[in-house]
Amino acid sequence: MPTGVCDEVIAKAASSPVAEVRDVFERFLPEQQRRPRLGAVIDPAEILALGGDVEAGRKIFFEAEGVRCRNCHQVRGAGVALGPDLSEIGKQNTPGQLLEAMLDPSRKIDPKYLAYVVETESGRIYTGLLVEKNADAIVLKDEKNELVRIPAAKSS
Ligand code: HEC
Repeated sequence: MPTGVCDEVIAKAASSPVAEVRDVFERFLPEQQRRPRLGAVIDPAEILALGGDVEAGRKIFFEAEGVRCRNCHQVRGAGVALGPDLSEIGKQNTPGQLLEAMLDPSRKIDPKYLAYVVETESGRIYTGLLVEKNADAIVLKDEKNELVRIPAAKSS
């Protein structure tokens, strides 16, 4: 491919709105044109020293392709209530604690958000968050945020 065409293809693909396409092509750009990345060794203090940008954060949370915060969290009624509501999260945590929850999401998990797995006698497997478990049934909330009721007679 002639260099001009090649550069054009790379420039176009590297600015694609689809994150997966961007990620594949960005490596062909000169280093200074690539997006800054955190890399494998992350220094929380360095990130915290940057300060915040509310509008940029709102865009990432609600609009960015590939970052799906809104699919699991609500902020003031917008988004999906699968994980904790984050409307008041800034009052309950320091910026350092919030950053830690995002960098190392599995370190501290509220038991009500642990995935629950049910296998029925016929071998069907259901996973989701446990909503209710009693003598009659187990109720899970699946990844589509829908309730799934499994009668106790079927589960083991
Ligand atoms: C697949 C669903 C899912 C996605 C996507 C997701 N989260 Fe979460 N998040 C959870 C669940 C479930 C918890 C609760 C379990 C835990 O504390 O780890 C949680 C916990 C958190 C917490 C800690 C809340 C607390 O009460 O301590 C923060 C902060 C958070 N998420 C921010 C984000 C941000 C920002 C994004 C997007 C960049 C995001 N999450 C994307 C499911 C998700």
